[in-house]
Amino acid sequence: MRVLLIYHSRSGVTHSLMKAIGAELEARNHLTTYVRLEAERPLSILGACWAALRRRGVKLRTELPRSLMGYDLVLIAGPVHAGRPSAELNTFLDSMPDAIGRRVAVFATHGGGNSDEHLRSVKVKVERAGGLIIYEDAVSRGTVSKPLELAGCARNIVEQVLRPSVW
Ligand SMILES: Cc1cc2nc3c(=O)[nH]c(=O)nc-3n(C[C@H](O)[C@H](O)[C@H](O)COP(=O)(O)O)c2cc1C
Repeated sequence: MRVLLIYHSRSGVTHSLMKAIGAELEARNHLTTYVRLEAERPLSILGACWAALRRRGVKLRTELPRSLMGYDLVLIAGPVHAGRPSAELNTFLDSMPDAIGRRVAVFATHGGGNSDEHLRSVKVKVERAGGLIIYEDAVSRGTVSKPLELAGCARNIVEQVLRPSVW
């Protein structure tokens, strides 16, 4: 299976989560492609909160995939900023290529707050692009910082996204 892992990570937590999930997929012989969304000019903390609250994007220096059709599964992830998706993730979601029929899993990492609005907002945009949500999860910064917990979490996630009922 070809898997795209596309994510924003300001301080590395989401990056570590995606790498752990990717490693688990690779161990099962799936092909992974990583795209880390990066702003042309990084936002300050205040700027990041403000942009997230206003549901704004930011200009990216990352080249975005022009199509998702070459992937069987797309994982979309980012940190919760002020309860919402980050500006970098918004930019991708607001210009998302057609995802018609693509299976999509959505992830938020957080510092202990509520991720519901973040996940809801991402899912609405994915579904608008035609994607089928097969899994969603919110993972805390604390879990990602503990290697054993992270490995267990990544294993569970991969078992969920590969569960036979969605393929
Ligand atoms: C600008 C900013 C806003 C944040 N807002 C929230 C929040 O509303 N709720 C929460 O639980 N964590 C919040 N956090 C913590 C991050 O979501 C959390 O540390 C996340 O795992 C960081 O992921 P990253 O290292 O991939 O950027 C915020 C962090 C930043 C920098």
